[in-house]
Amino acid sequence: MLRLDNVTKVYKVGTFGGKAVTAVDGVSFDVRPGEVVSLIGESGSGKSTIGRMILGLTSVTGGSITVDGVPVKPGKEYYRGVQGVFQDPFSCYNPVFKADRVFRMIKETYYPSVPEPAWAERVRAAVQDVRLNPGEVLGKYPHQLSGGQLQRLLIARALLLDLKLLVADEITSMLDASTRIDVLNLLADLKTRGLGVLYVTHDLSLGNYLAERTVVLRRGQVVERGLTGKVFGDPLHPYTRQLVAAVPRLHAPWEDAVPADTCLYHEKGASGGLLEAERDHFVACACGEIA
Ligand SMILES: Nc1ncnc2c1ncn2[C@@H]1O[C@H](COP(=O)(O)OP(=O)(O)OP(=O)(O)O)[C@@H](O)[C@H]1O
Ligand SMILES: [Mg+2]
Repeated sequence: MLRLDNVTKVYKVGTFGGKAVTAVDGVSFDVRPGEVVSLIGESGSGKSTIGRMILGLTSVTGGSITVDGVPVKPGKEYYRGVQGVFQDPFSCYNPVFKADRVFRMIKETYYPSVPEPAWAERVRAAVQDVRLNPGEVLGKYPHQLSGGQLQRLLIARALLLDLKLLVADEITSMLDASTRIDVLNLLADLKTRGLGVLYVTHDLSLGNYLAERTVVLRRGQVVERGLTGKVFGDPLHPYTRQLVAAVPRLHAPWEDAVPADTCLYHEKGASGGLLEAERDHFVACACGEIA
């Protein structure tokens, strides 16, 4: 459904745009319907840039991004099927208006002919779908709601559309542990509706909990990707191993799988793209990482 093919993003920076920063460098992966894919990598590795390109908020420098074969095209039709939810829910609300105004905008843009009572019913149902009590949250101002409630209202808003893909960028980072689990479970529920979710995070354990497949990004490049169990259970790239080793609970089973001084990619004589080390498990060249 979502497909990134050799996507590159170069930002022009400096006073006259004279300097170039390659934020995303030849990235390819896909997200299928009913699947959560987590995009993991350290700060500055290009995760949000990828999310913003998928949402049409920033242009693609090279390669292509398509949803059901159609290139990203910002506009009413595209956003009917593709929506994003971001880290800071407060920034999506205007503090002087009640929080449910975000639903009004959806009505005016996409459903102008739906009668008001029927619309109110749809909103109530969407709010209940994200496990909020409509009586408690509707009619309130943003400052009267918690970060987790605002975040869930944004997800509810996305659910009112005919959504195919949700890009969720660090959405759980500012939530407390129990609300975080609620939001994660909610994302897991979305899968059963056939929605695809790209879950951007730097928290491995959350990605591990949620995602069928994982993409590990480093300095704008994919170093490893594949089924989550394979990537975290048997990490092949030194960078992925570092990430996994930093999470005590995930650590252990992969000891000795690949000697630390081996670049599997190089050893197998791969060239171009990633090496498919086993079914649904791809790894990049690690020669640069091995001293
Ligand atoms: N608008 C911009 N103009 C110039 N450079 C940018 C811009 N946005 C991001 N960058 C640069 O692109 C690189 C990737 O940034 P990005 O925000 O995609 O990283 P990230 O993986 O989301 O990081 P984090 O985990 O901190 O959110 C960084 O080096 C960043 O400084
Ligand atoms: Mg980011």
